[in-house]
Amino acid sequence: MKFFIGNWKMFGVPKSINILHKINFFISKDKNRNKYRAIITPPYTLIESYSKYFRRKKIIIGSQNCYKKDPFSSNTAAVSPYMIRKVGATYTIIGHSDNRAEGDSNTDLKSKVELALKNKLKIIYCIGENKTQKINKKTFTVLKNQIVKVLNRKLKSNNIIIAYEPIWSIGTGKIPNNKDLLKTAIFIKKVVKKVFGKTLPVIYGGSVDENNVKMFKEIKEIDGFLIGGASKSAKKFIDIIKNYYR
Ligand code: PGA
Repeated sequence: MKFFIGNWKMFGVPKSINILHKINFFISKDKNRNKYRAIITPPYTLIESYSKYFRRKKIIIGSQNCYKKDPFSSNTAAVSPYMIRKVGATYTIIGHSDNRAEGDSNTDLKSKVELALKNKLKIIYCIGENKTQKINKKTFTVLKNQIVKVLNRKLKSNNIIIAYEPIWSIGTGKIPNNKDLLKTAIFIKKVVKKVFGKTLPVIYGGSVDENNVKMFKEIKEIDGFLIGGASKSAKKFIDIIKNYYR
């Protein structure tokens, strides 16, 4: 099973549902539709209405983050895994570099992962090195830490996807070369296997678009994509899927 996951970040108002109508229409006619899952993570404000609308359709709705406490607490503007699940989300991203940069520690992420799984949310857990770490050849050490400090064998591994997103690639148009990406995907799968006793899907994120997806599809170890910028356009998102299977 492959995953095409659109992370809208701070984008979208109610009428942006039109983008999803087009994507849903494409998928419902796509002969490859049983080979992949399309997941969109709109901002919190749109989760309930979009989840209701797409409940029996071809798009799965997720959240971009969740708070580290559950179910209710007195943190202003925080939204818990319980609240997210109750408005219909199926997935949640955890550990996106935007949120790590704003202070999410491994301890915070660990508690988010546990609470999200407890509420039956499936997890897209993001890991990735920054430019300095890459230059200093620390990539593998960083990735390993991000995995072993947050995930452990007691968690329901069937409900976890790992998203490898090199920070220097997010929103920059820069992408890793095939050789490096293949090595990294193999490394991540090896670490994950040590933690869980089995491998999990590993997807790639960072400047994925309708053109470079043709190159990424050569790497069979990559089980899908976390798509930021290009997921705000129905055409680009659809072309990514089309070009992946072409
Ligand atoms: P991008 O974002 O595709 O715009 O690089 C990816 C992400 O941050 O998930």
